[in-house]
Amino acid sequence: MQLDYIDLYLIHQPFGDVYGEWRAMEELYQQGKVRAIGVSNFPPDRIMDLMIHNKITPAVNQIEVNPFQQQIDTQKFLQDNNVQVEAWAPFAEGRNNIFKNELLLSIAAKHKKSVAQVILRWLLQRGIIALSKTTRKERMIENISLFDFELSTEDLAAITTLDTKTSGFFDHRDPEKVKWLGERKLDV
Ligand SMILES: NC(=O)c1ccc[n+]([C@@H]2O[C@H](COP(=O)([O-])OP(=O)(O)OC[C@H]3O[C@@H](n4cnc5c(N)ncnc54)[C@H](OP(=O)(O)O)[C@@H]3O)[C@@H](O)[C@H]2O)c1
Repeated sequence: MQLDYIDLYLIHQPFGDVYGEWRAMEELYQQGKVRAIGVSNFPPDRIMDLMIHNKITPAVNQIEVNPFQQQIDTQKFLQDNNVQVEAWAPFAEGRNNIFKNELLLSIAAKHKKSVAQVILRWLLQRGIIALSKTTRKERMIENISLFDFELSTEDLAAITTLDTKTSGFFDHRDPEKVKWLGERKLDV
């Protein structure tokens, strides 16, 4: 990669030789080649198992967090264990008509902001790092213009009613999905 160091290096999924990978990553961290190491899509029990059998606690867990999958209990567990939450698909990749959701639209109108900004501000106020993605320059500007408004306690409480506690994509605990992902990897 021709870099002196990498800021953050993650294990993408809690499958396969996670322990071998983690110990190799711990070495890279100790050598200063990686500034922080973490994981992605790890449920709390897998994080706990990784932590108690290794030296370094993951700096982050990158998981699906959006208004339809809020991960409130998981966030509490991660906070209690000093693991920073990063949200992938903060807009649920546009699924379930998220940008047209009536509740989010009403909160956005009240603050003269967009639905995207309300979602990102909600994550910011929860202490979650949002990994939003856009291919459009004007939306990149929109998506970082979050520091001139604040959601109220009522706004935050209203957003919690959207939580389905279900992934909009897939369940990392589903054996059939684990098999599918493993077989897919073999094709690479
Ligand atoms: N660790 C993992 O397992 C995992 C899994 C999935 C994704 N990720 C990562 O998560 C990041 C987020 O990407 P994502 O694609 O999953 O989801 P996302 O950010 O929830 O959704 C992206 C979609 O939202 C649209 N969008 C962005 N800003 C908008 C705005 N202001 N108004 C209206 N629409 C807007 C984009 O369209 P336009 O491009 O047309 O603006 C795009 O269709 C990526 O870096 C991805 O690599 C990680």
